[in-house]
Amino acid sequence: MASTRSWFPPLSKPLPPSHHRSLCIQCPIKATYGIRPSKEAAVDRENLPIRKIPGGGGFPLIGPLRERLDYLYNQGPDEFFRSRIREYHSTVYRANLPSGPLVAQDMRAVVLLDGKSFPVLFDVTKVDKKDLFTGTFMPSSELTGGYRVLPYLDPSELSHAKLKKLVFFLLKSRRDRIIPDFRSTYGELFDSLELGISSSGRADFGAFNEYAAFDFLSKSLFGINPRETELGLEGPRIIGRWVMFMVGPVLTLDGLPRLLENLTTHTLRLPLFLTREDSMRLQGFFYSASRHVLDEAEKIGISREEAYHSLLFITCFNSFWGIKIFFSNLLKWISRGGVILHTKLAQEIRSAVRSSGGEVTMSAIEKMPLMKSAVYECLRIEPPLPIQYGRAKKDIVVESHDSAFEVKRGELMVGYQPLATKDPRIFERPEEFVAMRFVGEGERLLKHVLWSNGPEDGSPNLGNKQCAGKDFVVLVARLLLVQLFLRYDSFDIEMVAGPAGVSLMLTSLKRATF
Ligand code: HEM
Repeated sequence: MASTRSWFPPLSKPLPPSHHRSLCIQCPIKATYGIRPSKEAAVDRENLPIRKIPGGGGFPLIGPLRERLDYLYNQGPDEFFRSRIREYHSTVYRANLPSGPLVAQDMRAVVLLDGKSFPVLFDVTKVDKKDLFTGTFMPSSELTGGYRVLPYLDPSELSHAKLKKLVFFLLKSRRDRIIPDFRSTYGELFDSLELGISSSGRADFGAFNEYAAFDFLSKSLFGINPRETELGLEGPRIIGRWVMFMVGPVLTLDGLPRLLENLTTHTLRLPLFLTREDSMRLQGFFYSASRHVLDEAEKIGISREEAYHSLLFITCFNSFWGIKIFFSNLLKWISRGGVILHTKLAQEIRSAVRSSGGEVTMSAIEKMPLMKSAVYECLRIEPPLPIQYGRAKKDIVVESHDSAFEVKRGELMVGYQPLATKDPRIFERPEEFVAMRFVGEGERLLKHVLWSNGPEDGSPNLGNKQCAGKDFVVLVARLLLVQLFLRYDSFDIEMVAGPAGVSLMLTSLKRATF
């Protein structure tokens, strides 16, 4: 089972930022309801001095191996990057990253760890995004019907715009289903969680959420309820195994000795025949359900086969796995905000819904500034897909707040978002969860929220690599909080470490009293 110590972070249950692994993890991180509006402290300096990029990993072979072990096991990503910022006195430096030499083309990268240098990764005139979605490892295209699926395409490739247009079509054609399907599916989720808490004192949100997320995505995007098909309840488990083949080499597995893991899953590709049955079952389910989108694909000029494989990947990987990680993060941070935040959210959400005649509508949601800000704050403090990559398309200069660095054509760059979005030169109290950070004046800071591979005040389009599901993701996160606080005044959680990683357990759901 994939653990929380993964290199490619969306493939694991979310970790508390401390990386502490006690049985019951208490919240070591501060979270508050409000502060005075944050000030944008970043001051761009003209004519920054060109500095040689520091770092590189030391001696050949041993240096890279040591860095890889530090990253995966000894330090974990956060401390790996932070400790080297201290060592090099720079938020831009060279480092060696996983995965192993037989699965990755190169492991050396220029890392970007502040809010000023990171956005160079969004500039597709400077940066090539080809085959870099999962970083230094790219799964075999045999897993996706022989096609390179959309997230691996650079906008300079012809299929990119066509496939992205198709995803926009899918989202637009199903937009009226999102709110009703979410409300019914997540209503059932909370019914089940309540039952779990009343029978055993706590309920595993992550486990229930996997089923809810898969059901919701299948219903809202494809109009099909998996429970009424042959797939039944098996979708999430099948995707879990399928995803292992997609990104196994960049995962860390619990229960496997480190050396063995390094020599096996991080060094070798898993044999594809092992996943054939799972792939066939997913195909059987989604192919018939996506008929209306595949008809549109042909009109756009893509074969049904190629379109289907991108849709499958985006649904099972980007959407399902993204939501699985993000929703647990969201509940964790909102829980840490405490009862004052919960009460404010409940008041705001209930009053907006009441003023919309008791209906949850887009316009009611717009009247919930604290709730909207809290969602953005969660995306800032713990971005669900924390690492992005790009390869310099030409010789470029990348600027941090203090220096400029020359990056040569072809060099790999890696941005670790959790540090870029906790840049103290941009955000006040950056390590703290401040629910109302983006309310009112604070909205101007949204351009520094980068979870979607682009600024939050920007939009995905056919020419960029920003997440096509950006608005969908923000909407469903908002709907989760709306659902939660329409039903409950407050809730409690425990983060529990077990053999399969850290789980978010709900220990109480206090029914709405006003
Ligand atoms: C919490 C959930 C999600 C997160 C955190 C997320 C995040 C991201 C990120 C960071 C990228 C850019 C990766 C890169 O190129 O380096 C991306 C790309 C993409 N995402 Fe999402 N995503 C989520 C959900 C979705 C959903 C629901 C959809 C659509 C239904 C979607 C569709 C896409 C597509 C199509 C791309 C590729 C865009 C392109 O090639 O131009 N994502 N996503």
